[in-house]
Amino acid sequence: MIFAKIAGTGSYLPKTILSNADLAERVDTTHEWILERTGIVSRHIASLSETTTEMAVAAAKKALAAANTLPNEIDLIVVATCTPDKNFPSTACHVQQALDIPPCPAFDLQAACSGFVYGVSVVDQFIRSGHTKKALLIGAESMSRVVDWQDRRTCILFGDGAGAVVIEAAETPGILATQVSADGREKDILFLDNSPGATLQMQGNSVFKLAVNQLDKIAGKILADQNLTIAALDWLIPHQANIRIIQATAEKLGLPMEKVILTLDHHGNTSAASIPLALDIGIQQQKVKRGQLLLLEAFGGGLTWGSALIRY
Ligand code: ACO
Repeated sequence: MIFAKIAGTGSYLPKTILSNADLAERVDTTHEWILERTGIVSRHIASLSETTTEMAVAAAKKALAAANTLPNEIDLIVVATCTPDKNFPSTACHVQQALDIPPCPAFDLQAACSGFVYGVSVVDQFIRSGHTKKALLIGAESMSRVVDWQDRRTCILFGDGAGAVVIEAAETPGILATQVSADGREKDILFLDNSPGATLQMQGNSVFKLAVNQLDKIAGKILADQNLTIAALDWLIPHQANIRIIQATAEKLGLPMEKVILTLDHHGNTSAASIPLALDIGIQQQKVKRGQLLLLEAFGGGLTWGSALIRY
């Protein structure tokens, strides 16, 4: 049997840091309000000339190095993003060109903030079906380009960045299970139109309630389906949207916050980049170690949601 495992990770954050105090100079808000309601202290913002592709490539180079993999070994590229530089060619094709990766399947995957977890599911299936030996999966976002900087309800939440993983075929299971889903009936509570100058629109409170009501069930189900309990888990690596959502989920699961990887405070919500960024930071900080059991879980516009159980 063929399985898929994470061979290496990498991440990239733009240099410019925007603090809550900086935001309070632009809109009617305070550091205290943002910290208390979201857990966010600062976020990284791409420069005007920096593209989603460039951030994706920077993260990918680090993941390739960590995986001891050459670009010409990659035979699948998937970029999870809802902020591509162009509608087409895909960000994945731009990454392929920039890294000189030989012809192979390359495409973008759009599931808003759930994009990376959807990507893990897709790559896992490409590998287990024998179509792919080494895949590059990236989550990369320029959320700063699509938020309304006059809207204090949304502009305080988001940041830019990219995270990447090399996933390769293996004889023993690394990716144990993935579960992804969506409910288009909730399409209007969080959306970004395709018209020029459109900005992200969100009914924050509705998204908040749905997330808090769903995420522990999503996490509980994937564990139960693998005959595992929460006690088996080494790390929860959640989509970094709001500390109160993460705390409520951990509490309902009976998981201590010490077992949750948090990057929200200094990254904000980087949409599809948030989980691979948190995973890579967790590895860099030597919290996440080989052999440990990781649960990734996310929700986002669509609504979409998903989880991945991984033996790292
Ligand atoms: N500073 C000060 N006051 C503010 C701010 C701000 N930045 N933003 C809103 N307020 C005010 C509102 O105007 C409101 O005032 P009012 O009562 O006088 O009308 C009050 O604060 C409360 O507003 P709520 O929207 O009810 O605040 P809430 O506690 O729900 O927090 C938040 C808002 C942080 C957006 C929260 O709802 C949230 O995190 N929602 C989830 C968002 C999310 O996770 N999105 C992820 C998906 S993103 C994707 O898929 C791309």
